Amino acid sequence: MTPITFYIPCLFGLEALVGDELRRLHLKDIRVENGHVLCCGTVADVARLNLNLRCGERVLVVLGAFTASSFDALFEQTKALPWENWIPRDGAFPVKGYSLDSTLHSVPDCQKIIKKAVATRLGAKYGTGQLPETGAKYQIQFGMMNDRTALFLDTSGAGLHKRGYRAVGVRAPLRETLAAAMVTLARFRGKDPFCDPFCGSGTIAIEAALIAKNRAPGLDRSFDAQKWKTVPGESWMDAAEEAMDQEYDGNYDIWGGDSDPKAIAIARSNAEKAGVEDLVRFEVADATAFSRSSDYGQLVTNPPYGERLLEQEEAGRLYRAFGQAAAALPEKWRVYILSSHPEFEACYGSLAAKKRKLYNGMIKCDLFMYYR
Ligand SMILES: C[S@@+](CC[C@H](N)C(=O)[O-])C[C@H]1O[C@@H](n2cnc3c(N)ncnc32)[C@H](O)[C@@H]1O
Repeated sequence: MTPITFYIPCLFGLEALVGDELRRLHLKDIRVENGHVLCCGTVADVARLNLNLRCGERVLVVLGAFTASSFDALFEQTKALPWENWIPRDGAFPVKGYSLDSTLHSVPDCQKIIKKAVATRLGAKYGTGQLPETGAKYQIQFGMMNDRTALFLDTSGAGLHKRGYRAVGVRAPLRETLAAAMVTLARFRGKDPFCDPFCGSGTIAIEAALIAKNRAPGLDRSFDAQKWKTVPGESWMDAAEEAMDQEYDGNYDIWGGDSDPKAIAIARSNAEKAGVEDLVRFEVADATAFSRSSDYGQLVTNPPYGERLLEQEEAGRLYRAFGQAAAALPEKWRVYILSSHPEFEACYGSLAAKKRKLYNGMIKCDLFMYYR
């Protein structure tokens, strides 16, 4: 099988975790870089990666990379790539991308040139001047930085954080990929009691249940490449079978609490959609009165940050009250809190043993890790 280079974009701070996931999936030549991870695999890995990755944002196939500082160079080098290996005669191939610190800085112009170059190549290969673009979608992505252009095909479609279980219109939800990363960084495997006392729509607890069960996060959604002729139908079935064979049955102690009854109703409904309603308990509860009698456990949470000054003061008071509750937990509890609040540790009442910089969308946060 012809080797394929994959490019997995991810949230800043999650690159090493994505690298670990790729290693566990036995991909080759893994290169962890800023904001993405590269690796080599086969066409069967298109399905395996989309179904299994918890922390990556999407799965792109690298078509080529070159230096171009003129539209002519961009056109010719794009046209020289073997697009027909992927895109059939009726394939739709929209183009999107970005340009940073490059001579060709107009994104719409670059989009037009790339589109024209691919159409010229495919038209010549299929012997037609008119490509209908009525078939499956082959989203072309380009990334330009310092005149270096990379061209990709997006196999995922909707981002991998869209697992398919989350209700729309939830306030300040956490990306599923970031929630999975927090659970992974807490080294939760399903054995210890697990709590999120500011659970909102339940994302962290649901991702914890999926991790405990070793359930592949992409099993309940579809991907653009499922309609591609180049990725055989069996590879999706084989990947799904392989993933389901590795699921565990077990009883887990996973709990989510929130003071807002509406959030709890949404969390319960999301857990049901994710198929983990029997593994997670959600309750209306005040985090400032949080307590547990079990000797050990993991608490992973994403409390309100307070974006504006007044709200920041309010968030500070909440952290103080919650910090006192957390300090009363038995000694072997480990606590992981994601916050962008500039005074988090001072408000919470103790310095974290470790901190890790993570991005919740555009918001720069720290994951404060406490273990005594
Ligand atoms: C940033 S949101 C959590 C979002 C969640 N991670 C998700 O993915 O949907 C913070 C949550 O804390 C809840 N909250 C605020 N004060 C609380 C308190 N004293 N006790 C429990 N929950 C509280 C809010 O209702 C809100 O749902």
